[in-house]
Amino acid sequence: MDTILQVKDLTKVYRIRKGLFRREPFYALKGVTLSLRRGEVLGVVGESGSGKTTLGKVILRLERPTSGSVLFEGKDIFSLGKEYTREVSVVFQDPRNSLNPRMRVKEIVEEPLLVHGERDRSKKVREALERVALDPSLMERKPDDLSGGQRQRVAIARAIVLRPRIIVADEPTASLDVSVQHEVLKLFRSLKEEGIAFIFITHDIRVIDKIADRVVVIYGGRIMEVGEKDEILRKPLHPYTRFLLSNVPVRHPRERKPADFQEIEYEVPREGCPFAPRCPDYMEECSSEVRRAELDGRVVYCNLY
Ligand SMILES: Nc1ncnc2c1ncn2[C@@H]1O[C@H](COP(=O)(O)OP(=O)(O)OP(=O)(O)O)[C@@H](O)[C@H]1O
Ligand SMILES: [Mg+2]
Repeated sequence: MDTILQVKDLTKVYRIRKGLFRREPFYALKGVTLSLRRGEVLGVVGESGSGKTTLGKVILRLERPTSGSVLFEGKDIFSLGKEYTREVSVVFQDPRNSLNPRMRVKEIVEEPLLVHGERDRSKKVREALERVALDPSLMERKPDDLSGGQRQRVAIARAIVLRPRIIVADEPTASLDVSVQHEVLKLFRSLKEEGIAFIFITHDIRVIDKIADRVVVIYGGRIMEVGEKDEILRKPLHPYTRFLLSNVPVRHPRERKPADFQEIEYEVPREGCPFAPRCPDYMEECSSEVRRAELDGRVVYCNLY
């Protein structure tokens, strides 16, 4: 299938302060390799601190990789100019923070068009608002005078106004009430039907179930497992994926027995598998190395396979 974006052996190291003078490297991402196909929704799931936002930020060029690369249609994204921001846009978790409170809806949605010197701006703004099902009467409002769901629709209208091919959505429904969440997910699905591909970041595997075609499970900055959503949810291979699935209300409880995990804070080790200290299938070799296995089109980083 046709790949639009490739992430190759991506590592992002932050220097974190330890004491007065010492700075230690911290691997927010380590050796992440994945691809996004045209028009697909790739769900990125993992607990807090697993590196999801960092991955999104590198793809959006908000952070530079320490090593590795991201290719858009085969070209390194850091060698591309402004045209890249036209192709790839973003929707963040909380529109309260991502939308300028002093601007009116129409100005917010128009801004990317101005940045890219587009013509017919008011027509394009109206079209974008229509696509997200926002009443044109709201154009003169400011974000504070909208509901949470309406605000997120404005953020989405802004994200689609340049007709991008990829949207990085970072927990875009996490700040919304459950009923509104459902509506906004429906909107994302309709954008997918129009051909937009998504990197859809969430900690909630139920959201993944509703929207993703394929899923990347990450933990401790490393990929645990990548594959078709249905296969990953029905038959998780990695112990970490099983752990995630055992911690949410799922549709067939009998199929997924809660695993024997302890709820303690673990420090992610720097070598081997990050999940090793919590893993019920831990083996000695997991502390030093992790094998990559390909099974029926699925990639699993685990020494069980
Ligand atoms: N600028 C930074 N400097 C130092 N460490 C950072 C920085 N940004 C992120 N980190 C660390 O990198 C790790 C991954 O962070 P990231 O925000 O990508 O996680 P996440 O999966 O998005 O988590 P959440 O679900 O809470 O949003 C975390 O441990 C975080 O503290
Ligand atoms: Mg995050």
